[in-house]
Amino acid sequence: MSLYLLRTTTRLLRTSRALARLPIATTTPPPHIFLSTISPFPHQQYANMSFAMAQRLKGKTILITGASAGIGKSTALEFARTQPDDLKLILTARRVDSLKEVASEIEGSAKGVKVHIVKLDVSVPEEIEALVGNLPSDFKDIDVLVNNAGLVKGVAQAPNISPADMQTMFSTNVTGLINLTQAILPIFQSRPDNGSGTIVNIGSIAGREPYPGGSIYCATKAAVRSFTDALRRELISSRIRVIEIDPGQVETEFSVVRFYGDKEKAKKVYEGVEPLTPEDIAEVVVFAVGRRENVVIADTLIFPNHQAAATVMHRKGV
Ligand SMILES: NC(=O)c1ccc[n+]([C@@H]2O[C@H](COP(=O)([O-])OP(=O)(O)OC[C@H]3O[C@@H](n4cnc5c(N)ncnc54)[C@H](OP(=O)(O)O)[C@@H]3O)[C@@H](O)[C@H]2O)c1
Repeated sequence: MSLYLLRTTTRLLRTSRALARLPIATTTPPPHIFLSTISPFPHQQYANMSFAMAQRLKGKTILITGASAGIGKSTALEFARTQPDDLKLILTARRVDSLKEVASEIEGSAKGVKVHIVKLDVSVPEEIEALVGNLPSDFKDIDVLVNNAGLVKGVAQAPNISPADMQTMFSTNVTGLINLTQAILPIFQSRPDNGSGTIVNIGSIAGREPYPGGSIYCATKAAVRSFTDALRRELISSRIRVIEIDPGQVETEFSVVRFYGDKEKAKKVYEGVEPLTPEDIAEVVVFAVGRRENVVIADTLIFPNHQAAATVMHRKGV
């Protein structure tokens, strides 16, 4: 009996040593198993997050305002990178030449992405009214609206704020965003189950925390925040997702516009700090849109590492 046990143990030891000597390739699953699209977890449809996002975005039509520069441009590129095979992008802004450059960059690398560009000044209600009617029929069924166009003008404080700047900021950041939302919502609401679609509004830390020299811009972004929150409540019986993304400091043309084209002044804003890039925000936009329809990333605040509030920054060597 003891001899039998000894032989069995020896055989088992030999087998396990032999198994340990086998090359890794034969004891671990081949790489394609890791890239499997079927998740082992029953509540997940796909094993791989980027594959899942690409699938969820497949065939969607996405309208982005302010796509000629900064966050809007990066968002267009990020959507195309995430779903390069089957996507429609409507890119809008006032500068058509810049939009054309963005479109050719996308079409050069993402062959399945169709781009339609529209010259659109969101501060002009008549241009927004004409937008949907003038879209080519294969771009009319919009699934995602990214309300990104926005700007700040000056650092003036009351009582010295220019009425023209006030008007520009409110008509672009607030009434432009609301008018466009109202133009697109009927498309979303015409779908079954009280409607579906996704609205992403780009707010700002400025909408949560007013600061001196930014009173009007902060007021416009606070208005965006209130409108967004009310809209989410109003659409509660639908499957329309209302998402707000609030960036902290991002280096784009934003500060150049604030200082009326003065690049030197704009550069000083970023002295001693490492701001976010427009790509950082674009990734968050695409991530939020790329969730399952039942997941609403309702509210997001994004800072670079050195920032903890609108006016709390750590500046190295300054
Ligand atoms: N950069 C930051 O630190 C920061 C922080 C928080 C929030 N944000 C917000 O992020 C959004 C994008 O800004 P950004 O930083 O990417 O600035 P940006 O580089 O200056 O880009 C702004 C975009 O908005 C468009 N735009 C401005 N006025 C418009 C109008 N009347 N009609 C249509 N499009 C218009 C511009 O295009 P055209 O000039 O070609 O029309 C441009 O494509 C804005 O809503 C801004 O308030 C920025």
